[in-house]
Amino acid sequence: MQPLPETPIELTIERLGQLGEGVASWQGRTVFVPGAFPGDVVRVHLEQQGKVLRGVLRQVTVPSKDRRPSPCLLSAECGGCDWLELAEPAQRAAKQEIVLSTLEHLGHLPRDRLTVRPLLVAPRDTGYRRRAVMHFAKGALAYFGRRSHERIPVFACGALTPVLATLPGKLAPLLKPLAKDADEVHLLAEGSKAAFAVMLMGPVTARHVEAAEEAVRRLRLEGAVLVPREGSPRLLGKPALRSLSPLRPEVPLYLRPDSFAQAHAEANVGLVTAALYELAPRETDAVLELYSGNGNFTFPLAATASSVLGVESSPVGVELAQRSAREGGVANVRFIQGDARKVCEGLLAEGRRFELCLADPPRTGAPGLARQVSALGMRRVVYVACDPASLARDAAGLVEAGYKPLALQVVDMFPQTHHVEAVMSFER
Ligand SMILES: C[S@@+](CC[C@H](N)C(=O)[O-])C[C@H]1O[C@@H](n2cnc3c(N)ncnc32)[C@H](O)[C@@H]1O
Repeated sequence: MQPLPETPIELTIERLGQLGEGVASWQGRTVFVPGAFPGDVVRVHLEQQGKVLRGVLRQVTVPSKDRRPSPCLLSAECGGCDWLELAEPAQRAAKQEIVLSTLEHLGHLPRDRLTVRPLLVAPRDTGYRRRAVMHFAKGALAYFGRRSHERIPVFACGALTPVLATLPGKLAPLLKPLAKDADEVHLLAEGSKAAFAVMLMGPVTARHVEAAEEAVRRLRLEGAVLVPREGSPRLLGKPALRSLSPLRPEVPLYLRPDSFAQAHAEANVGLVTAALYELAPRETDAVLELYSGNGNFTFPLAATASSVLGVESSPVGVELAQRSAREGGVANVRFIQGDARKVCEGLLAEGRRFELCLADPPRTGAPGLARQVSALGMRRVVYVACDPASLARDAAGLVEAGYKPLALQVVDMFPQTHHVEAVMSFER
């Protein structure tokens, strides 16, 4: 291999990569340039990082027509929103293309083998995030920096919903007595209500409770959760925020700051609608819903299906979903707390059969999904993905198991970032 030049070189950015970086070519090799966008002509310093050739951005010589000044003062350092300097139409086009090309390259699934629906645009481009994970840093709350675990103190954040936007700056001084014992602080909002959770590195003490209660009182929050390293969380006030089930407003949906919640409430309605449209449950269909969380998809699915069995590893997620079922009077849903793979093995051993599966796994994907849905007799599978690479790998597995890809709906859940959500359907 030829040695890398010691002085910066000029490159033209061709496209955006899966992790949001600009991609260019140099002597037949692919170069990833964080902070650069398609159409930019840039000067970069080349660095070999493992197998990857990276270009450290030194200067944008000719800016792309889609480049714009960032509206956020922290965007050069903060790891939160990596596409703030790219105009929204270009962000959207890139997201659709990233999902399609990842399916092609990693999943060997050409785009002409499925119906590609137009991208679902988020109703709000800023001020949409109803949850955030923050860390303590020198008396402040912080996000991780760009491509590093350096902590960037944040007092206000325009990506958060109005009720959360200035909470980091107000909460940090009140939580000071907890700072050295805690790992993370999770913020959560639902409409005008907000709550927080503190993930502790040890047990809950009286000092922690006193500080968190004071913060809840002073900031007029609904409640807080103190989560010890081991044992049950300590609830202060009413940290479970009541929302409405998407497409089924007669059923309440509860969110808690120590449990997963879809970050963009309005775009989530589009996501659930898209998943329901693709799965199309009928009244004779038994649905297995893997990674069911707080029941975000469960209650809309149960409106037309014969039954829904939700599987979720988080005890809090299951508790919230069961509460919704109870209060909403929904009788045709049941939840099992456990690892999706192990629960599927158990269902197989019992000889259970299901017609439909909806899987909404974390970033790492759904291990063993293809084998399980096939053995459980599923006719149709809908996969909701927050990571294009995991989607591509699991989609390839489903195709190998005899499922035909039907349709793909990309949803822009996270404007100003490279993160993207997708719904893909399969049938056998
Ligand atoms: C992307 S979230 C989706 C949750 C829910 N479907 C929603 O829309 O809010 C993934 C969920 O999978 C759960 N989870 C993670 N690993 C799991 C596993 N091995 N088995 C079952 N659930 C798991 C997480 O707790 C989380 O609630």
